[in-house]
Amino acid sequence: MTDIPRENSATRARWQTCLRLARELLLVGPDGEDLKLDYLHTLIDTGDLGPTRHPRKRILIVGAGVTGLVAARLLKGAGHDVTVLEANTGRVGGRIKTFRTTGHDQPFTDPAQYAEAGAMRLPDFHPLVLALVDTLGLGRRQFYNVDVDPSTGSGPDVPVPPVTYTSFTGRTWTHGDDSPDFREPDKLGNSWIRANRVQVRRSDYATAPERINEEFHLTDDEVRAPVVKMVDDALESVRDYYSDVVDGKRVNKPFDEWIEGWARVIRDFDGYSMGGFLRDHAGLSDEAVEAVGTLENMSSRLHLSFFHSFLSRSDINPGVRYWEIPGGSWRLPDALHQGLLDEVRLGHRMIRLEYHDPGRDADPEGTGAVGPDGWGVAVRTVAEDDPQAPPRLWTADLAIVTVPFSALRFVEIVPSMSYKKRRAIIETHYDQATKVLLEFSHRWWEFTEDDWRDELEDIAPGLYAYYRHGADADTAPRVTLPDPAAGLLGAAVKDNGVTEEMRRIDSGLPLRGPAVRPATHCFGGGSAADNPNRFMYYPSHRVEGSNGGVVLASYCWSDDAARWDSMPDTERYVYALRNLQALHGRRIEVFFTGRGATQSWARDPYAFGEAAIYTAHQMTSFHLDVSRPEGPVHFAGEHTSLKHAWIEGALESAVRAAVAVHRAAPVTVPGPDREEHAS
Ligand code: FAD
Ligand code: ARG
Repeated sequence: MTDIPRENSATRARWQTCLRLARELLLVGPDGEDLKLDYLHTLIDTGDLGPTRHPRKRILIVGAGVTGLVAARLLKGAGHDVTVLEANTGRVGGRIKTFRTTGHDQPFTDPAQYAEAGAMRLPDFHPLVLALVDTLGLGRRQFYNVDVDPSTGSGPDVPVPPVTYTSFTGRTWTHGDDSPDFREPDKLGNSWIRANRVQVRRSDYATAPERINEEFHLTDDEVRAPVVKMVDDALESVRDYYSDVVDGKRVNKPFDEWIEGWARVIRDFDGYSMGGFLRDHAGLSDEAVEAVGTLENMSSRLHLSFFHSFLSRSDINPGVRYWEIPGGSWRLPDALHQGLLDEVRLGHRMIRLEYHDPGRDADPEGTGAVGPDGWGVAVRTVAEDDPQAPPRLWTADLAIVTVPFSALRFVEIVPSMSYKKRRAIIETHYDQATKVLLEFSHRWWEFTEDDWRDELEDIAPGLYAYYRHGADADTAPRVTLPDPAAGLLGAAVKDNGVTEEMRRIDSGLPLRGPAVRPATHCFGGGSAADNPNRFMYYPSHRVEGSNGGVVLASYCWSDDAARWDSMPDTERYVYALRNLQALHGRRIEVFFTGRGATQSWARDPYAFGEAAIYTAHQMTSFHLDVSRPEGPVHFAGEHTSLKHAWIEGALESAVRAAVAVHRAAPVTVPGPDREEHAS
């Protein structure tokens, strides 16, 4: 007997939720308009928030990440009196952070070097962020997710193409001038895939996946398919819900069917984890799921919602073109901050949020916290750089809270927010992400074998042959190093930062992998391995005036990230180097400067995690309640969008909240001074 769920009020309500979520996901406004076009118009074309009957309100924005800064910029431009409270004492930008030399910090031996701790790549189909970068005059260049042939492409002197967005309404929005001479360089795929002790170049895996796949014990048809194809094929039946294949290309179904199709996808699949979907719905073998997880960066996410990986497959995809900001992503929040120097107050961490919601009993819990009149919102902060300073109270008509829900969880909120908002603050799953960065004096990943010979011989005659003979002290030809006592770690780097402790840990570890692997000869892109580094990225461009570079030796999520977080720094860098050596040969050690940087977002005191990444059922359970205002308190930030873990989602939310606050009536009559010491 087939078990057909009976239509009841719960299934009807769930269907309405799915329809509303589909509109939110696709940014379809109440009258069928494209909200993305509205956001582009507001943020990029005009900066105009539209008419309001309530000009010049006092607005508190909590958090000076990109969301808070963009909302502040728009609201200040509209004539409001804006204050941005930021916990961090030293910088704005939140999860946009670049390790770089500043007045008080030099993370790498070469002061010119920098590397991203958070956001690093901007996909072509994120027009708000790309156009914002262009409007601020920051410049942009390609970020190579797949390594390229640098002798191809139009080169750095040809302007980048304009930002374009094609709406479901058929309208195309363009920002910037045509650049008919722009050409992307050719993709090569020289970087590596290494799993189960087998290592092949990406380009070879794409054409002959068997060697790698066999080691995952795949059989039959599965052994002949690159894992990327397995996933794509598995997702085809989902794509059929809202689009058709026409002449080999996916084309969205007509408007109403398109939205309904997405609503059905949400209804049918929000309860799946990605692992559950691949096994139970798509019928992949356990071994195929293991291969997909390892090579497509999914193992650590198989337990997370189907939707997260489904949506991000269109985001992080070899076919997509990405951009980066020369000099580092930090320049985006920094440029926004320059226009808000009086408004942004660094070093003030919100510990308590009080608000007056005229729609509800002002003080249902009898705390006496909410003033009868005078202000709509009061935020209490502590000074991060002065533990002795008394807390401060900041009052305003309205507020936009942009801090991650993981951070908001530790803020006392009076009165309690609505039930579903509380659930969302308590339950929203935040993933972990950790980046381990290592600095090298030379860009060995770009070397040909001839470059290797020249560079190693330059350090010490015979060193090239020494490694070719397996770097075994008993059998390899003798070589005299410039500093024999220091050994090979950092041998090419004068005044390197290799410490005695590093040498001790390094010499105590068993040697992993051969002394020499074929020259990687790769520009940009990244390798994937089943060792703890998991995903490695090589810089897309050289840093002006520097011979070296910083490799993202490990970019991990979820459990893969947590492993690194348990280790002390020195040990982490030595292990990260070891795991890089497993793919690239032991000889890379000579270029290690001894300097590294790590960012664990789970251990970051103001992020409490990488990004909101839902588990199964969370989107349907509470996403619609995440951004709903609570009286005068509005919510924005990456987590309130459905582009989790992307700047674009943060920007969409910033414009949405700025428009809403601009239009909203102040909750109360003007009251006491907005800055006063709390009693
Ligand atoms: P945040 O940047 O977190 O801003 C919130 C601010 O609130 C912070 O400044 C924080 O210090 C402050 N704050 C927290 N608690 C308090 C408090 N109690 N009181 C006052 N202030 C407080 N996006 C991309 O587009 N491309 C990428 O390549 C990319 N890669 C990423 C890689 C990693 C590892 C991570 C972590 C994120 C990445 N992202 C990427 C996502 C992007 O960085 C975020 O979506 C975006 O920066 C979030 O901005 P936000 O303003 O919503 O939040
Ligand atoms: N925007 C992020 C990046 O480009 C995506 C992070 C996804 N995070 C995750 N835990 N799945 O890397």
